[in-house]
Amino acid sequence: MARILTGVQSTGTPHLGNIIGAVLPAIEMAKNEQNESFLFIADFHSLTQIKDKSTLRKNTFETASTWLAFGLNPNKTIFYKQSDVSEVTELAWYLSCFFPFKRLTLAHSFKDKSANLKDINTGLFSYPMLMAADILLYDADIVPVGKDQLQHIEMTRDVASRFNNTYGETLIVPSSLIDTSIKFVPGTDGNKMSKSKNNLINVFLEKEKLKKQIMGIKTDSKNINEPKDFSSCTIFNLYKILAEKKDIEKLKNKYSKGNIGYGEAKQLLFELILNKFKHAREKFTYFQNNPEKVELALSQGAVKAKKIAQKTLKRVRAKLGY
Ligand code: ADP
Ligand code: TRP
Repeated sequence: MARILTGVQSTGTPHLGNIIGAVLPAIEMAKNEQNESFLFIADFHSLTQIKDKSTLRKNTFETASTWLAFGLNPNKTIFYKQSDVSEVTELAWYLSCFFPFKRLTLAHSFKDKSANLKDINTGLFSYPMLMAADILLYDADIVPVGKDQLQHIEMTRDVASRFNNTYGETLIVPSSLIDTSIKFVPGTDGNKMSKSKNNLINVFLEKEKLKKQIMGIKTDSKNINEPKDFSSCTIFNLYKILAEKKDIEKLKNKYSKGNIGYGEAKQLLFELILNKFKHAREKFTYFQNNPEKVELALSQGAVKAKKIAQKTLKRVRAKLGY
């Protein structure tokens, strides 16, 4: 049995790209009875960028609601907020005393973020040590992450090995897992959909607002009855990710023959999204109206997570002589 753990930052409401690229694959993986899965919301990490209490809480709540709306089963997956298990900050401190400062200065994500942000705080710099603690605290074997996080996993492996070399086998050295089948979801401007760009589709919006986002997809200026290139069309590329094969073929045909205008194609995509995410939308609305259900799931997860965390920390403290 492998212990699989992953974390998500709560920097905004998850968009269609996050759902296809991260939420659905992780929920699928958690269904495998062979594995034990942990999923947490990295709300301590979010503090490196968000300094407003209500924004922080809202993001965490909406992120948690998204996972639950898409079917994460909190009885099977240990689902919690990072801030509910503050033991992680103690382990992060110990780890930081085993990791060379110079190596931390080489982190790509710090370089990228510090080039773009005004608030370059120490937390942003030591971010990888907190992330290593997130993983090592729970003896995780496998950590599914996006490519941009690979270096952080390498640092986690490195610091765990350094600790083990000094004190004997104490921490589990984890492996990363990159899902190469994950599709890249384009945003309304055709570039990768991202919270930091103004190109999102938020599948939880009320119908009229959602429609407006979809009607905002950029296209070329071909008329209704001109043949169109489906492969370079963002509407088609989004449709392709969500639709059944036979419907994709139908739409392809219409594009090639000039039997459809972009307005009608957008309407098809809008209906597909409503249809495909009907259940998740209903559940998300339910959680918005019943926030105590989300809080309950997270707090029950925190109790389970804390037990494991305290055991690991005890092992580490004993080695250190505390
Ligand atoms: P964002 O770029 O919106 O800030 P994050 O970097 O927080 O998103 O990504 C969270 C997760 O969602 C990662 O696993 C990432 O690979 C996935 N993801 C983000 N955007 C997309 C996208 N457009 N297509 C597919 N997956 C995505
Ligand atoms: N840094 C990750 C991201 O931005 C989120 C994260 C924090 C994480 N702690 C983690 C991911 C531990 C995996 C394991 O996406």
